Amino acid sequence: MKPSAEPRRYLVTSALPYANGPIHIGHLAGAFLPADIYVRYLRSMAKDVLYVCGSDEHGVAITLRAQKEHLTPREIIDKYHPVIRDSLKAFGISFDNYSRTSLPIHRETAQEFFTRFAENKEFEVFEQKETEQLYDPKVDRFLPDRYVTGTCPVCNSPGAYGDQCEKCGSSLSPTDLIDPRSAYTGETPVLRKTSHWFLRLDKMQQDWLNDFVAQQQDRWKPNVYGQCKSWLDGGLQPRAITRDLDWGIPVPLPDAEGKVLYVWFDAPIGYISSTKEWALQRGTPDAWKPYWQDPDTALVHFIGKDNIVFHTLIFPAMLHYHGDYIVPWQIPANEFLNLEGDKMSTSRNYAVWLHEYLQDFPGKEDVLRYVLAATLPETKDNDFTWKDFQARNNNELVAILGNFVNRVLTLVQKYYQGAVPRPVDTTPVLETHLTALKQELETYVRAYSDSMERFRFRDALTALMNMARAGNGYLQQCEPWKLARDQSGLVPGILYHGVQVCALLAAYMEPFLPFTAGRLWDMLNTPRVSLAELQAGEGSPAALSELVPAGTLLPVPPLLFDKIEDDTVAAQVARLQPPATQTTTAPLPVEGTRGTPELSPAKPEIQFPDFEKLDIRVATITAAERVPKADRLLKLTLDTGLDTRTVVSGIAEHYAPEAIVGQRVCLLANLAPRKLKGIDSQGMVLMAESPEGTLRFVVPAEDLPNGSVVR
Ligand code: MF3
Ligand code: ZN
Repeated sequence: MKPSAEPRRYLVTSALPYANGPIHIGHLAGAFLPADIYVRYLRSMAKDVLYVCGSDEHGVAITLRAQKEHLTPREIIDKYHPVIRDSLKAFGISFDNYSRTSLPIHRETAQEFFTRFAENKEFEVFEQKETEQLYDPKVDRFLPDRYVTGTCPVCNSPGAYGDQCEKCGSSLSPTDLIDPRSAYTGETPVLRKTSHWFLRLDKMQQDWLNDFVAQQQDRWKPNVYGQCKSWLDGGLQPRAITRDLDWGIPVPLPDAEGKVLYVWFDAPIGYISSTKEWALQRGTPDAWKPYWQDPDTALVHFIGKDNIVFHTLIFPAMLHYHGDYIVPWQIPANEFLNLEGDKMSTSRNYAVWLHEYLQDFPGKEDVLRYVLAATLPETKDNDFTWKDFQARNNNELVAILGNFVNRVLTLVQKYYQGAVPRPVDTTPVLETHLTALKQELETYVRAYSDSMERFRFRDALTALMNMARAGNGYLQQCEPWKLARDQSGLVPGILYHGVQVCALLAAYMEPFLPFTAGRLWDMLNTPRVSLAELQAGEGSPAALSELVPAGTLLPVPPLLFDKIEDDTVAAQVARLQPPATQTTTAPLPVEGTRGTPELSPAKPEIQFPDFEKLDIRVATITAAERVPKADRLLKLTLDTGLDTRTVVSGIAEHYAPEAIVGQRVCLLANLAPRKLKGIDSQGMVLMAESPEGTLRFVVPAEDLPNGSVVR
């Protein structure tokens, strides 16, 4: 049931991201980067490891987004699946397979689980029950999960979802909400009878889960074990694993018309179907089996903390009661990463999006990997700030790692035309420095491996940087640039060892900085050496045996990293949308229905200087046209009194372009320029939005000249 001390193989997964939008640094730091670091480490250690993932394409997350974008669920997943896949690939996330849950192989695998449970007569895994569910008669639909919002019965905050309150983290049922509202119409729903299948988690807890979890106390991280324990202490309840929805995997039974599997039932099975797809694609259809069925496999799920209960309790129970599968070995869940002190949010567009970073910082994928690895929320929530991003790049990557490599390789160029020198002579003092260097490296090499094995990636990264610091210290002590003036035979030995430290760094940095590692091996003109090869060599890797042979000819070294300037990060901070409060409670448009509108709630207090930063001016629209392939956008030309400029505005559903030429408006003139559909938009026209969502210009009352200041 559990792998021995040294598993024979590893199967590593990252939580399947919902294909309902692009992904941001919170996703990367939560489930992808740590998994990739671990997997690259294991591969370099010559372990048998498979890393699978895919897009989560079912559930309310997808249908709600479809409604919002006026697309079908299928169009939504076809739009975002490739965006997510390509962003992750660009950041070097090295999946063996990235699948998607809309594939037939996944449907079959998930349905087989359901059928197996439905047929299991010895242990009744399921119970089919008639229940009362919230229903919106106006649109003739049930309201599962996030289709209802209301006030949280636990913490009393408004805007809680039918499945969860994001404020206090409580897991909820739609019928728990106080003053529930339909996401279709904003109306109060009614109760209606429907029948669903429930997983008997209550029975499973007594029968197996209590014991299973008790065995994990020393293995799982305290945050994971703790959360899971408190669920068990509260007593698990049967959980509905079907829904009345028209998007999802059909319940594979004759009397289940219109019912689909709950997304949290099918999604984790996606790990299995992704492994099956991998096996099929490489022409060995059975190759997935050992990864899921041999107890000598260590199954490791990387997830964020909001997914803990599903991976520690529900999915293990599903695997166990199915009967053909192993259960997870390790679930190194992370806490959350915040952004500049606020919670990241897809629906509120408050995040650093991976696809935007890739555009803004081409070739700097490793810099983000580094900063996120150094900031991983391993034990508590952590904060990403652009200032810290800049500081870690400039003070750590450039000043420590890049500086060491650059100093060594530049001196080799300068004194030996790029040929790695063979040691000639030494002195007792230089020998002491070398011994000290090796001792330090020994400490860090051990700390690195030890941290990796314990899923403490930040500590492993610190150990890596300490190796570079040790290299810098060695150069500083030996001062080869001074000795070189006396034509001494001492310099070759110093630089030779410096070059070996560079190679050591290249091998150890690979899990964190795979692109940089590749460049560094090229700069060392040496085939990559794996950590397994390093450790198989004579003595410890820290003994600095010859990785780059004397005589190897090195190219003129480019810089490994370069500085990031103040204005670059200032521009990133400026483009962040401030996190608006509670936009998610607004009713969503549905054909033929109208919401009961509510005013959006008051915003928190600000100080006068906050307001003073806004440069709002009176302006006149002098031209307006539609933006091709963008239903909502108009391209406006404005006379601002100061200049003539272009502003792209999302008002096409509210005004015809012909009707607004000559219109006088208020313009936020100092908003950082943004590209919208390829057009540079310089500012924002101020609009008032009614509770129903109608937009109208905010018009200056009297005839004031363009450029007049609004204050
Ligand atoms: N899509 C879910 C989320 O983003 C995670 C699914 S993980 C899996 O929260 F185990 F279900 F695959
Ligand atoms: Zn709450």
